[in-house]
Formats: sequence, structure tokens, C-alpha cells
Amino acid sequence: MGFLNAPEYRRYTAPMRLTHMVACAGCAAKLGPGQLTEVLRQIPASQNPNLLVGLDTRDDAGVFRISDDLALVQTVDFFTPIVDDPYAFGQIAAANALSDVYAMGGVPVTVLNIACFSPDLAPATVWADVLRGAADKTLEAGATILGGHSINDKEPKFGMAVTGTVDPNRMFANTEARVGDFIYLTKPLGTGIVTTAAKFDDCPAETLAEAAASMARLNDKAALLGHEYGVRCATDITGFGLSGHLYNVARGSQVTIEVFTSALPTFTGLRGLIERDHLTGGSKRNREFLGSDLVIDVDVEPWLVEVVVDAQTSGGLALFTPSEIPGMTPICVVTAGPPTIRLRR
Ligand code: CO
Ligand code: CO
Repeated sequence: MGFLNAPEYRRYTAPMRLTHMVACAGCAAKLGPGQLTEVLRQIPASQNPNLLVGLDTRDDAGVFRISDDLALVQTVDFFTPIVDDPYAFGQIAAANALSDVYAMGGVPVTVLNIACFSPDLAPATVWADVLRGAADKTLEAGATILGGHSINDKEPKFGMAVTGTVDPNRMFANTEARVGDFIYLTKPLGTGIVTTAAKFDDCPAETLAEAAASMARLNDKAALLGHEYGVRCATDITGFGLSGHLYNVARGSQVTIEVFTSALPTFTGLRGLIERDHLTGGSKRNREFLGSDLVIDVDVEPWLVEVVVDAQTSGGLALFTPSEIPGMTPICVVTAGPPTIRLRR
């Protein structure tokens, strides 16, 4: 699969810059994995036998069985502007929210918008463009917008609650990784680094266009590819970074995951942006969260460690396959051992 669609993103030149209205952009704005664990501890566990995937395995979406071959997939995701162009922000927020359904092997069906905007920050046309971008992306996914909810908020946010369906016998779960699986990643890494550099006007326009096009791309074809190659386990790579999302699978499946860092796909010129220190606060939290369960071989290039922990927005699917996919390069393998992410050269 090619990574680059035609970059449609142009540097947005309107007087108001969406990324300057917020302290923390995109998925990097979410609670750190450590903080989240503390909060989630308070929710009592469900005893319903039809709850197939719940909170405990940190999966991409919840799955609830309706009948033997039909289950609901439900997820919600919203965040602060990751780019300045409101239409592109809407597309990216929608692709990101829809992605968690694809990450379970499901198909999105209905959508509810969640909009936090302030009329004091920008004219209504700007917020209308966010909704239009999201609506176009929802249509592309074949899903239907049923409604939504808005509140007045000085720090803009947008996203969606998405309901999809999946055959529970064919879903992709965090608990199903097996020793010997290959892992394929369907989008390049580095959106946190690129968008941080862009916020400080230190990102080449082509690199930002490349990242914006990637973030706006649906993971529908990636999910189809997974079904074609017998995938039982997958996750999308978002705010916890490659390391954090793989770690959720390593814990869910009780396996070690070895990452071939030289095989990681990255956006053009990413190394230079890392060397100019465009890192998100989220990446630091992501690294701290794994602690000694992130094992880094001595010959791994340091900039690639930053790529591994970078908080992604609307990243690709990591597909765990029992056999190799012709024409694609695996980025990891699953080995026997305690839940660990080991970075190799
Ligand atoms: Co996810
Ligand atoms: Co999510």
C-alpha cells in the first residue's frame, strides 16, 4: 500500500490559527496512560456475558454481542485542533474516531458529533468547515451522522462517538497476538513531531502536507487487508504512540514484541525535526509509562526511539498476521516472554 495520497493540505493562512487556541494538540492532549489507569480503576467491572471487549484489555473500542454473528463496536474520540485548516481538522478528527472501529475489524455505521467551539474565537464559517470536513469523511466511510452535541468552549475540540458492527468470530482483539506473528503498520509515524514543528512554524510545507493527508486517510482498506490475511489482533496507533499501543497488546496477549526500528516508516525529514527538539509532552509520558518494560538495544539510533514514543493522531493500523504479507515489510515480530517492547536495530 502506498503511504502518500496527493497532499491536499495547504498551509492555512486565515487570521485565526486553530492550533494556537490550545495548549496541547490532537491525541497528544489525552491523559497519559499512567493517569488513565488511576482513573479507570474506579469503574466497577461489568458482569454481562455479552460484553466481549470491555475496559480491562485497553482495546480500541468496546464490543457487545447482539447475536452469534453480530456485535456492536462502540467508541468515542475527540480532541483539540491538530492543524490550522478547519476543514482538514474535521476530516482528521473523523478519520481518527472512525479508526477505532476499523481497529476491531468492524465497519462504522452511525456517528454522533461532539463539538466544543466558541463564537468568540472564530466566525461560524470556521466551525461549519470543521463539521463539513467531518461529514465528508463520514460519507466516505459509508456511515451516517445521526446528530450530535455542542457546548461553548474557549479551547476548541471536535470528535465523534461512532457505532459499528463486527462479526465477533472475526474481530481483531488485543488479546489475540500469538508468538511468531508479524506486525505491519499501514501509515508512517511522526504526526506528533510534525504538528509540533508546524505549530512553531518550523516544518517544511511538504512534510506537513504529507502528515495531514496521512491523518485524514481512513483505515478502512487497512482493515480489509487484515481480514484478507487472517488477522485476529490489531490496534490503531494514536496518542500512546507505537510503544504504548503495542504494549497494550503485549499485556493483553502476554507476549514480547520486538520492533525493528530501521524498518519503521516515517514522514520525510522527520529526523531533522527531532534533532531540533520538536517533541510533544505526550511522548515523554508515553516513555515513562513503559518504564523498564521498554528495552532499547544499544545500537538503536536515538531519533528512532523518539519516533516509537511519539504521540500519534489518526495513525495507521498495526496488523498482527500469522504469515508474511507479500510486498510489505514487517516492523515487528511477536516472541515468547513477559509483556515487553524491545527495540532492535
Ligand atoms: Co485505538
Ligand atoms: Co481512541
